[in-house]
Amino acid sequence: MKKDGMKILAGNWKMNTTPEEGIALLEGLSNSLTKDTVGEVKVVIAPPTIHLIPMVEKLWENSEIAIAAQNCHYEDSGAFTGEISAKMLLHSEVDAVILGHSERREYYNETDELVALKVKAALKNHLIPIVCVGENLKQRKAGTFLDNTWSQLNIALSGLSSEELNDIVVAYEPIWAIGTGEVATPEQAQEMHCFLRKMLSEKFGNSDLPIIYGGSCKPSNADEIFAQPDVNGGLIGGASLNADDFTSLVKKLNNS
Ligand code: 13P
Repeated sequence: MKKDGMKILAGNWKMNTTPEEGIALLEGLSNSLTKDTVGEVKVVIAPPTIHLIPMVEKLWENSEIAIAAQNCHYEDSGAFTGEISAKMLLHSEVDAVILGHSERREYYNETDELVALKVKAALKNHLIPIVCVGENLKQRKAGTFLDNTWSQLNIALSGLSSEELNDIVVAYEPIWAIGTGEVATPEQAQEMHCFLRKMLSEKFGNSDLPIIYGGSCKPSNADEIFAQPDVNGGLIGGASLNADDFTSLVKKLNNS
């Protein structure tokens, strides 16, 4: 049994759903994710930015689902065309923000140092950063994946106190497993989560934060992954776009 407050299921909708489709999906989820279904799981939905405010308003009466952004800028305001600041998210009643997703690192050249600035901005604005790290296939094959992933996390969290780590969620997402249908084995996930926890303990004196797994996680493979002692839940892409699949994952995590 995992500790209280340490089970998190987050859905990353990426650049999917029109506003109408997004609200319909959210309505499906709010109907199925009752207090009983959710149990001790913290459910987070990260829709496209344009859906954030309508969804926060829609969920006003439903405390079972928290809303996250998929990215933010590190400055509060300024001449950064097209960007959204952590401060704006805070003032929109958003709860959390996904940072350093591998797609942003790959397509928008986000570096570990940039992710670190964003993590600090998120914490300053009372958002929970969901910090994504994970190796690519080349690093996995070369056997350097543990060090590569720790290096990303170490830099992303640099300068934070042990106490500040209490407000961080780490997402381990091996790049080779994202959207590929190839899921990490439960042993591979456990090995990485356990390693990151050990390194967090050595470096920051705090290993008590949730570490969730992402990469082709779906109802058919989730039980064994969620059963691993150091896996606190999932960051779900494709399967979060289907209300039945996502609800099933919430139930599985609650029962893990
Ligand atoms: P998939 O679940 O579609 O592989 O995506 C995982 C992911 O990138 C979540 O952030």
